[in-house]
Amino acid sequence: MTGIGATRASNAATVALQGVRKEYESGVVAVHGVDLTVNAGEFVVLVGPSGCGKSTTLRMVAGLESITAGTLTIDGRVVNDVPPSDRDIAMVFQSYALYPHMSVRDNMAFALKLRKRPAAEIAERVSAAASTLGLATMLDRTPRQLSGGQRQRVAIGRAIVREPSVFLFDEPLSNLDAALRSEMRRELATLHRRLGATMLYVTHDQVEAMTLGDRIVVMHEGRVRQVDSPGELYDHPHDTFVAGFLGSPPMNLLPGALIQRDGRWFAQLADAPALEIPLPEQLTEVALRSRASSIIVGVRPEHLVARPMQPDEPPGESLAATVELAEPLGHEQLLHLRAGAMSFTVRGAPGVRPAVGSTVSVRMSLERLHLFDAASGVSLRA
Ligand SMILES: Nc1ncnc2c1ncn2[C@@H]1O[C@H](COP(=O)(O)OP(=O)(O)OP(=O)(O)O)[C@@H](O)[C@H]1O
Ligand SMILES: [Mg+2]
Repeated sequence: MTGIGATRASNAATVALQGVRKEYESGVVAVHGVDLTVNAGEFVVLVGPSGCGKSTTLRMVAGLESITAGTLTIDGRVVNDVPPSDRDIAMVFQSYALYPHMSVRDNMAFALKLRKRPAAEIAERVSAAASTLGLATMLDRTPRQLSGGQRQRVAIGRAIVREPSVFLFDEPLSNLDAALRSEMRRELATLHRRLGATMLYVTHDQVEAMTLGDRIVVMHEGRVRQVDSPGELYDHPHDTFVAGFLGSPPMNLLPGALIQRDGRWFAQLADAPALEIPLPEQLTEVALRSRASSIIVGVRPEHLVARPMQPDEPPGESLAATVELAEPLGHEQLLHLRAGAMSFTVRGAPGVRPAVGSTVSVRMSLERLHLFDAASGVSLRA
C-alpha cells in the first residue's frame, strides 16, 4: 500500500443529489430530478443509453454545469454554487486531454504546481501514483510516446495525485480497444480497492457497469429507473427498460396475459396461447395482487432450454419454435427462435446445434420468470 492509499480512504466524501434537475437554455430537460446518495468510498456507476443524461449529471456534480433545481451536497455541505476548483473533486474524461508537449511527470504534476504545493510533496505524490499505475518507467515520455491505455492511465494519475475526496469518470475507457478496456477495467477495480475513494463513473457499457459498480444507477431519458447492486439489477429489474438494458443478449420480453383456472394461475403468451405456464407460488401471490390483464413475460436466455422436438412431446408443456439462427460463441451458443410472431433467444451449451429451420421444444425455468404490467412496464413484484 502506498502513502496515497493510506490517506485517501480518510477523506472519501459522501455525495448526495436531491431532486437535481438540468434544463439547458435550449429548453432541453436533460435530467428530470435525480435523487441519489453516493456513500463515502463507494463505487457507483451511471449507465444508460446515449443521451439519457449521464454526462450532464456527472458534470453537475463536478460543477462544470449549473444545476437548474435541486440540491447537491458533498459531505453535507451544499455545493450548488461552489466553483469546481473548490469542490475537492477530480474528473477523468474519455478524451484524456493531456498536454502534448509536457512529459508524463509534468502532466501529472500540473494541478499540484498550480496550487503551489512544495516540490518534494509533488515529486512524492507523482512517483507514488506512477507506481500504482505502472507508469514509473515512463515519466519522462510525452503523451505521443504512449499507447492509448498508458495515456488514459496518465489521465487517471493526474486525478490521483490531487487526492480528491471524489473521483468522477466520464467513459474513461471508451477510446480503448476491447483487450485494453478489460485490462483497464481490472486496474480501476484494483485502484478503487486500494484507494478506498468515492467514485462516480459514467459508462454506456453494461459490462463495465456490472463489474465495477458497488451499485449501478440505470438512467433513461433523464430519469433514474433503478439503483441497485449489479446482482439485484440483474435478478430483479423493476421495469422492462432495466430488464432489457442489462444482459447480453437481453432478457426476452414476450407479451401475454395472466389467466386463472381451477384456482391456479398461468401465464399465457399472446403468440402461443396453447402453452399455459403454471406460475410458481411466489409469482401466484404477485399475480393475485396485480390487476394487470395484459402482461409482459420476461425470461433470460439462460433460463430457457431448447431441445430437438420429440415426436411424442405432450403439447402444452413446452413451446414449439423454429430455429432462425444459431450463433456458436465457443463456450456457448445462442439460438434465435421464432414461434408465431414472437422471436426470442436461448442461451445453451455448445454441442448439438439444431439446423436452421428445424423445430425445437423450449422449456423455461419457471422460478426465474419475470412478470411486468404491459401498460406501465413496471414489474408486478414492485
Ligand atoms: N450543452 C447542451 N445544450 C443543450 N442540450 C444539451 C447540452 N448538452 C447535452 N444536451 C442534451 O442533454 C441530453 C443529455 O445529454 P448527456 O450528454 O448528459 O447524455 P449522455 O447520457 O452522457 O449520453 P452519451 O452516452 O451519448 O454520452 C441529450 O439530449 C443532449 O442532447
Ligand atoms: Mg456522455
